[in-house]
Amino acid sequence: MAFETTALGKWTRAGIAAIGFGALAVPAIGALAMPSDETAEPVTTEATLTEEQMAESKALFSQFACGSCHALAEAGGTGHIGPEFDGNEGLDKGYIVNIVNNGQGAMPSFGGMIDEGQIDQLAAYIIQVKK
Ligand code: HEC
Repeated sequence: MAFETTALGKWTRAGIAAIGFGALAVPAIGALAMPSDETAEPVTTEATLTEEQMAESKALFSQFACGSCHALAEAGGTGHIGPEFDGNEGLDKGYIVNIVNNGQGAMPSFGGMIDEGQIDQLAAYIIQVKK
């Protein structure tokens, strides 16, 4: 492998990986880096998310690896440890918010790791994009 032959090659490869990860994580990290007294606006069940909110929620879904346990095609989730979201008729927003905050069984709790407003938005996103 040409990449492995020089120290510069290794650096470049790490650099490319970092850029790739950066592009994926920037919206979520940007949001998390907000001062703690600035929380995201709550999203009502009826509201349609803006493209920016969709992108933010999709980034969160990747950042917190929801897709490693849950299938949600739109967000690239292919996991089967937890219930699939695509084709899942039992999901409503309050239910998702509660489980993400508190966990359940093998599902870890994300309360305190994800901003409350963002959990709200993530729940709306899942409902909006699930097939
Ligand atoms: C380590 C694997 C894992 C990760 C990561 C994970 N979950 Fe789960 N999730 C589960 C399991 C297992 C269940 C089933 C829990 C039970 O009822 O015992 C579950 C249940 C759920 C449910 C309820 C589904 C239903 O049909 O009742 C929702 C909603 C949910 N998870 C959302 C999320 C979101 C959003 C994330 C990312 C922030 C996430 N999960 C990350 C494993 C995971």
